[in-house]
Formats: sequence, C-alpha cells, structure tokens
Amino acid sequence: MALSNKILACNWKMNLKIQEATELARFVSQKADKCNASVWIAPSFTLLPHVAKILENSRVNYGAQNVHWDTCGAYTGEISPSMLKEIGCSFSIVGHSERRQIFGESNDIIIKRALGSLKHGLSVILCVGETLQEFENNETVKVVSFQVKSFLNELANASIELESFSDSKVKSIIIAYEPVWAIGTGKVATNENIASVHTTIHSIIQKYSFPFTVPVLYGGSVNENNARSILDLEVVDGALIGGASIDSRKIGMILDQFS
Ligand code: PGA
Repeated sequence: MALSNKILACNWKMNLKIQEATELARFVSQKADKCNASVWIAPSFTLLPHVAKILENSRVNYGAQNVHWDTCGAYTGEISPSMLKEIGCSFSIVGHSERRQIFGESNDIIIKRALGSLKHGLSVILCVGETLQEFENNETVKVVSFQVKSFLNELANASIELESFSDSKVKSIIIAYEPVWAIGTGKVATNENIASVHTTIHSIIQKYSFPFTVPVLYGGSVNENNARSILDLEVVDGALIGGASIDSRKIGMILDQFS
C-alpha cells in the first residue's frame, strides 16, 4: 500500500479528561488536514460526544474501543452499534488484547462483536496477536492464523446477513496485528517479524476472495521514532497507536511524517 493511503489509528484507551481530549482532537484534526494518511481516533465512551463535536467536519474518523452486537437490551456495561452511530462514530475496535487478557473476552464473543458491528454499519478494527509465551514457543503463526481465520470464516458465512455488504462503510474491515508483548512495553517487534506476520495474514485474507480489501495494521509500541520505518513496509497498511497517540508531541511528529 502506498504511504499516502496508510491508516493511522489512535487508541486513546482509558485516558484523558474532556478538555485534554478536545484539545488533542483539535490538534490531530489540524495535523490530519495536511497529512496523506487516513487518521482514526478511538476515545473512551464519555469523551466521544465531545470529540465528535470537534471532528464532525474534519478528515478524522472517530469510533469506539469496543462495541456490543445488539441494538439494545439487558447488557449492563455495554454499548450498542446504533448508540455509537447516533453520535457519528464510523468504527469500533474489537478484540484488543486488553479485552482478551484483562476482561477475559473469548474469541467467540469478539467475533460476535465484530459481526454485529459490521451488520449495523460500523467499520471494525479486529485486533489479533500472540502473548509473550506463545511468541517464545514459536506459536505466533498458529495463534494469529486461528484468530484471523475464525473471524473470516464467520464473516464469509454471515455475508448474506450483511445487507449492505457492498456499502463502503461495511467494507472497512481492518485487522490489527498487535503482539501482546509489544503493547505498552516499549518492546517493538522487528521489522522482519512484522513483515512476516503481515504477509501470513494477507495470504489468509486473499484465500477468501472478498470483493474488498482488508488492510492490516501493526500495533505495539509504535512511536515517533519507529513509525516511519514500520509503515514503510509494503505489507503494513497502517498502525494502531496507543501511548504515543495521547501525547500531542509524539502523535504530532508521527503525523508530520505523512504530510
Ligand atoms: P501502545 O498500544 O502503542 O501503547 O503499545 C497499542 C495498542 O494497544 O493498541
């Protein structure tokens, strides 16, 4: 993918107060105007309406960090795709390793979230990745392939239900490869590792012959110093950025590299 088409997705996680968030959103939006990449921001739920006001007429997409599959109901603590759409969200992240590891979300639940979200017209960034132990046991390909295939199998079977499947909003099905051991640790996978796992994921995707592309992002300690060399890799379609995305200096420097 050409550098100009890369996706820079910011995962703000459980951070920032309203004023900080609106200031950062305004800053990112101004940078994004001069930037060739596509910029996405996922703030926490309470920040979303405030960030939405700043970003509604900007080039920046905003979305949530998780989503339920149903429109409403007795699901304490959850948020529905239609609630997110009502405030202008265009996507949701699902299956982040913090959801899988800390909150015990199973692969089945994550797939339900991803499909429900797509069904209701929200794009999805599905996160996959191996733990440190799996990495050390050389199980990366096995683990990541399982996570990707189990989702794509269900997606292929569910395609009849996805009424607006050819709609551009539904087309944005994105996979983010995030080695769990590289998230928030400062440890980054080598470019060789990243390229190899991304190539595997792309070759799995190709087998499904979907009538749309599925970009593959890299995430895990992406910062202002390593972003460019990771994103220069042909098989890397973008980055999912955590820590560096809530630091205006760092995210500013990353965005500047795409202007
Ligand atoms: P990090 O987080 O950039 O802070 O490692 C990435 C992520 O969790 O998506």
